[in-house]
Amino acid sequence: MQSRKSSLLLEKDRKNIEKLYLDLVPKVPESKQTCKLTLPDGQTFELPILNGSDGPPMIDSRNLYAKTGYFTYDPGYTCTGSCVSQITFIDGEKGELLYRGYKIQELAKTCDFVDICYLLLYGELPSMQDKKNFDTTMKNEMLVHDGLISFYKGFQTGAHPMAIMVGVVGALSAFMNEDLDVKEAVQREISAIRLVAKMPMIAAIAYRTARGLPIVYPKKKLSYTANFLYMMFADPMDPDYAVDEYLAGVLDKILVLHADHEQNASTATVRIAGSSIANPFACVAAGIASLWGPAHGGANEAVLDMLDEIGDSSNIPECIKKAKDKNSGFRLMGFGHRVYKNYDPRAEIIRDVCHEVLDYLDMKNDPYFKIGLELEKVALSDPYFIERKLYPNVDFYSGIVLNAIGIPKSMFTVIFALARSIGWITQWREMISEPVLRIGRPRQLYVGHINRNVNDRTERENSYDTLSVLTDPPKKGFSIYKP
Ligand code: ACO
Repeated sequence: MQSRKSSLLLEKDRKNIEKLYLDLVPKVPESKQTCKLTLPDGQTFELPILNGSDGPPMIDSRNLYAKTGYFTYDPGYTCTGSCVSQITFIDGEKGELLYRGYKIQELAKTCDFVDICYLLLYGELPSMQDKKNFDTTMKNEMLVHDGLISFYKGFQTGAHPMAIMVGVVGALSAFMNEDLDVKEAVQREISAIRLVAKMPMIAAIAYRTARGLPIVYPKKKLSYTANFLYMMFADPMDPDYAVDEYLAGVLDKILVLHADHEQNASTATVRIAGSSIANPFACVAAGIASLWGPAHGGANEAVLDMLDEIGDSSNIPECIKKAKDKNSGFRLMGFGHRVYKNYDPRAEIIRDVCHEVLDYLDMKNDPYFKIGLELEKVALSDPYFIERKLYPNVDFYSGIVLNAIGIPKSMFTVIFALARSIGWITQWREMISEPVLRIGRPRQLYVGHINRNVNDRTERENSYDTLSVLTDPPKKGFSIYKP
């Protein structure tokens, strides 16, 4: 019997594969220009300038501290490059997004998610035969270990599926510890394929567990995306349950649009976790945690919460006023982007999809859709949003589409994680393949006390009661603690 490992290797020897992957390792370009830095004491230093194939040039500050004794300060890494990469490119000014050099608009029209996985992982679009083989490999790896399924039993019904995802994806490494030598190209590929192939089942069980529903297993005859929908929605009492193909195609497009987005918060998290040579499944679990927040992947869920709160178009002016008030702590969810200062090209694609899906489902009167369109119109004509170049991002529409096709709100960010798993693992693999890998270790500008003397405990003032909400005032009688 052929082992799973050898079927994944497609009988190529390891050395061949190592060689094959050399092209996928990005190289730091040679510097042809320098710039001068003058320090307060008048000393000047030359710093190399690096030019990529596109995008702004970068000042190479790798030796800055060694040469000058200075660090740079850039919270949120708004203008700091942390890697060289050849996977995804965004031109925020033009509103352009490329995967491996191909425009997202063209990919979204002509490719499915499995094509995109292949493109990101291997650098090229698959031929007919490649696609067939890759599809088979992915399907062979779809099932999760039965032992992993018992993990889900520990979660409470009603738990947020993203909480389950963080735990279960991290636990995957405990079930695949035999192929986890990240220094070997072959094992990196095996980990990558296993992660992406298993994500639909992991995500679908997270949903069914949270709902108290029995698990449904994937079917080989279904596509990657149809399998996910099947495992989520199949009725165990209906053996003829079939996934709506058009809606599976819509979800597949959403996966294509979310597959990668260069060095965003969750991808940077995966890279930083991986820089310590941690195993890839743990790194991706860290990425899922980062994605969960409403400023990032949690925005699609937050958009629907916001539309719920608005409730009626007549409340839009009040909502816009609140979003512009810095003291309110409220932002218009699904608006704005760190990089896109023109339009998010993914938002343009999904806005058209949104109109088509609602037509298909006879839901043109969907309140989310109606309030969403009205909110978009008002915000886009308001000077506050115009001046700050705040446009609707992909999540503004993805929430409305996902809701229309029947996906529960708590699964929106899980679907984002499912799509982004290919981006995370490709970025992780690119980083780990580099000949010199440096652990991610930012610096800080320390503004705290220095050189304090430790006084005697009896001389110190009581402060815990005022500093912490967790101090328990003494009381009579028994208390029951919730563990
Ligand atoms: N609503 C109201 N004001 C906003 C919004 C918003 N959604 N986004 C930014 N602003 C304002 C800021 O208050 C700031 O105003 P100021 O210059 O007067 O101080 C200005 O626009 C610039 O904002 P920053 O916070 O500097 O922008 P940053 O690049 O750090 O943040 C982010 C980008 C996090 C996406 C932000 O726009 C936001 O919070 N948006 C809402 C959440 C969201 O939709 N996230 C999804 C992002 S896309 C994705 O992850 C797939």
